[in-house]
Amino acid sequence: MLERISTGISKLDELIGGGFIKGRTYLIAGETGVGKTIFSLQYILYGLKNGENCVYVSFDERIQNVLTGAASLGWNFKDYVKQGNLIPFEIRLRTEDLRHGKESKAFINAIARYTRNKPISRLVLDPISALAQGAGDLMWVREYVREIVAYLEEELGCTTLVTCDIPTGSNSLSRYGVEEFLASGIIVLGLTRIDGKHVRTIYVRKMRWTPIDMTMYTYDIVPGEGIVFGPPLSELLKSASGGL
Ligand SMILES: Nc1ncnc2c1ncn2[C@@H]1O[C@H](COP(=O)(O)OP(=O)(O)O)[C@@H](O)[C@H]1O
Ligand SMILES: [Mg+2]
Repeated sequence: MLERISTGISKLDELIGGGFIKGRTYLIAGETGVGKTIFSLQYILYGLKNGENCVYVSFDERIQNVLTGAASLGWNFKDYVKQGNLIPFEIRLRTEDLRHGKESKAFINAIARYTRNKPISRLVLDPISALAQGAGDLMWVREYVREIVAYLEEELGCTTLVTCDIPTGSNSLSRYGVEEFLASGIIVLGLTRIDGKHVRTIYVRKMRWTPIDMTMYTYDIVPGEGIVFGPPLSELLKSASGGL
């Protein structure tokens, strides 16, 4: 039996057979502003409340801004940081360093140093797409991500969430292909217009070794709770067209 951990969203756990498989890497994809960072924080918070140690790595926003933003949702991460249960990282990469393989080693060493003697169960890399900004050759980005994810899975044994920005209006799931290739599962967040209003959507695109319910659901972002599932999108569309 594969051991599973909760995503932090009970309805989502139901759709994917009980949660994420422990020790694997999952991708949360979607355009900017759909809720990927909030999803990741909710995932981490569930673990922290459960007494677990977690690592959150920000590749685009200042970590202080992320924690302050979380407070606007009623989530207090700062105490967990003080107690050492949440280890926040902020990483900016230079193309040169990527090319020489320096950064992935520096990153791995830093994580290893901070997590020494401390089992880490949940880790978030948010958003991995920021790594490739300005990178001339995506091969180095792929190599970087591959090395880090291999290390995390083999050495730390934690369950990892990687988020990726999809370019607005694009159908592709990720920018570089590498994330889809590495991920054990993919969850896609999006926005749809109904009657002139934007509705948030979520569906499970892939889950290895898991029978899944691929229904596209709607959701809201609710202070204090985070991502809260609503009815399937098809129901909203039916009632919208029924009203015509
Ligand atoms: N305190 C809040 N209450 C309700 N909704 C919020 C709150 N903070 C942010 N949001 C919603 O979350 C969205 C941003 O989510 P975020 O996870 O940062 O997106 P992404 O990481 O995908 O770019 C905002 O556009 C806003 O609609
Ligand atoms: Mg974000």
